[in-house]
Amino acid sequence: MDYKQEELLSKRRAIELWDSDYINEIEVGTFEGLSNIHRYLFQDVYSFAGTLRTVNLAKGNFRFAPVLYLEASIKEIEKMPQSTFDECVEKYVEMNVAHPFREGNGRSGRIWLDLMLRAAIGKCVDWSKIEKEDYLSAMERSPVNSLEIKYLIKGALTDDTSNREIYMKGIDNSYRYEEANSVSIFDIDKSNI
Ligand SMILES: Nc1ncnc2c1ncn2[C@@H]1O[C@H](COP(=O)(O)OP(=O)(O)O)[C@@H](O)[C@H]1O
Ligand SMILES: [Mg+2]
Repeated sequence: MDYKQEELLSKRRAIELWDSDYINEIEVGTFEGLSNIHRYLFQDVYSFAGTLRTVNLAKGNFRFAPVLYLEASIKEIEKMPQSTFDECVEKYVEMNVAHPFREGNGRSGRIWLDLMLRAAIGKCVDWSKIEKEDYLSAMERSPVNSLEIKYLIKGALTDDTSNREIYMKGIDNSYRYEEANSVSIFDIDKSNI
C-alpha cells in the first residue's frame, strides 16, 4: 500500500470517527482510549493498529521509551492528572515520550489530547492555527521543557468543540505535520473517494 492510499483510508476513518459519534465514546486520558483511536484510524492500513510497538524508536536525537519499559511507563502516565490545561498538555507530552505505536503516534495522540482538553476545560485545539515548523520544534523541545508547546497550544484553543469543520481542518493539518497531506479531507468527504 502506498502513502497516498494510507492517507486516504485513514482520513476516511477520521471522518467516520466523528460522524459515527464514536469519538464521544472514547475513554478520556487512558491508553485504552488512545489505542481505540489509533485502531480506528489505522485499521485498514497498519497490521499493528491499536497495539504496542515491539521495536525501539528514535526521531532526531531523541529516543522514545525503550520497549522494555513501555508498559510500565504507560501505566505511570495513565496516573497523571488531567483536570487543567497544563496537566493535559503535560500528559500528552509524556505520552509522546512513551510513543506507544510503531507509527501514527502524532495523529492519534492529537485527537487524544483534544478529548482531554474538552473534558477538562471545554475547549479543544484548532490545529489549523499551529504551523508545522513551530509544532515540531516545540515537540522536540518538550521532553526537556514543555513551555513552548503549552504556549502554542494555548494560542490555538477554541471553545467550538463540536464544530466538524474545525475538526476536519485539524486532521488535515495533523497530517501535514507528518508530511502525509497529499489529499484534502474535504475532497474525500465531498466525493466519497
Ligand atoms: N525529535 C522529537 N522529539 C520528540 N518528539 C518528536 C520528535 N519528532 C517528532 N516528535 C513527535 O512525534 C510525532 C510523530 O510520531 P509518529 O508516530 O511518526 O506519528 P504519525 O505517524 O502520526 O506521523 C510528532 O507529531 C511529534 O509530536
Ligand atoms: Mg510518522
